[in-house]
Amino acid sequence: MKELRIGMIGYGFMGKTHSNAYVQAPNFFQSEHKPVLKALCARNLEKAKPFAENWGYESIETDWRALLKRDDIDAVDICTPNNLHKEIAIEAAKAGKMILCEKPLAMNTAEGEEMVAAVEKAGVPNMVWYNYRRVPAVSLAKQILDSGKLGRIFHYRANFLQDWTINADVPQGGAATWRLDVDAAGSGVTGDLLAHCIDTALWLNGSITDVTAMTETFVKERMHAETGKKTPVEIDDACSFLCHFKNGSLGLFESTRYARGHKALYTFEINGENASIRWDLHDLHRLEYFDHADESIVRGWRSIHVSDGDQPYMGNWWVPGLQIGYEHSFTHQVADFLKSLDTGEPAHPSFRDALETQRVCDAVLTSAKKRSWENV
Ligand SMILES: NC(=O)c1ccc[n+]([C@@H]2O[C@H](COP(=O)([O-])OP(=O)(O)OC[C@H]3O[C@@H](n4cnc5c(N)ncnc54)[C@H](O)[C@@H]3O)[C@@H](O)[C@H]2O)c1
Repeated sequence: MKELRIGMIGYGFMGKTHSNAYVQAPNFFQSEHKPVLKALCARNLEKAKPFAENWGYESIETDWRALLKRDDIDAVDICTPNNLHKEIAIEAAKAGKMILCEKPLAMNTAEGEEMVAAVEKAGVPNMVWYNYRRVPAVSLAKQILDSGKLGRIFHYRANFLQDWTINADVPQGGAATWRLDVDAAGSGVTGDLLAHCIDTALWLNGSITDVTAMTETFVKERMHAETGKKTPVEIDDACSFLCHFKNGSLGLFESTRYARGHKALYTFEINGENASIRWDLHDLHRLEYFDHADESIVRGWRSIHVSDGDQPYMGNWWVPGLQIGYEHSFTHQVADFLKSLDTGEPAHPSFRDALETQRVCDAVLTSAKKRSWENV
């Protein structure tokens, strides 16, 4: 058994999901490699201690540069806000570390290109946490699409809807609301939510060639949590875009943090000549499927409960009929990363894959600004 000694930077929401995945993956998936929680990196030692103790991190570093200098770290996991991804990833690549980076890859395409160049030059294994690919029902959608069952694809439709920033008193910036601060996040719903939808779409339906978008910032000024001053909000609160896929199909994407009643409604639907599929994060273990070849008297949408051992990842879990949840998408991603180390095959989505998503995000934001169609 080879150790994969992890140094994790940041211990918020994603720090928790990843820590859980490193612990859980080797208990359910076979690999020659086993993650070891070697070091947690956080700026405040006292605040980080309970987290490190709870998850079993062997040590704590308070400066990510010091973490990168350590010989006993094989892989760096970047779980910080978006504005830190580039600098940490490039330095980690130079230090010869494997890199698992949270999404979006970067603040923009230019940063992403530098990051891809750095990891490819260093030849280090790399992966970006677009975890929804690893929800078994979404992986099953990929299997069904690749089998050709849908025939020619006409439409790809995706939404990611939330409602947590409707209140104008929610501040921007700081530890809890960095997502509303353009300097920390790069963009609003486009990089935060649509990036997930775009990654899934590129994976399932191939390249996007051009886009036209509109964005809106409904609350124009918010108090900045760090300065206490009201400053303009420069992120997109909502974004909708149309696109063409290379395979000739049409795409329609929408994301907002102003859809009252929706917390994390990520849905997609794909319509093909012979069949359609749709998926909903709120019911994530189900895949809906309509097959026009069914006998007409029983033809209709079927709801596939993705829990059988034949279905992606499920053979490693319980018995047919018993489902798994959100956190397992991260466990699957760790398991696949470990497998990639066993086989020497690259893990996906790689930095290069995630750069393609970044390019689409940038084209969307440019299009909204210019009110134009933009090539990706
Ligand atoms: N894959 C997904 O579904 C998903 C979901 C949520 C967030 N994300 C991404 O994960 C990243 C982190 O998001 P989050 O929700 O975990 O944020 P968070 O605010 O919960 O956690 C961020 C962490 O980074 C730490 N941090 C900030 N600056 C640091 C520094 N200089 N050195 C060390 N640590 C530092 C903070 O202390 C905190 O622990 C973002 O890029 C976000 O887009 C991905």
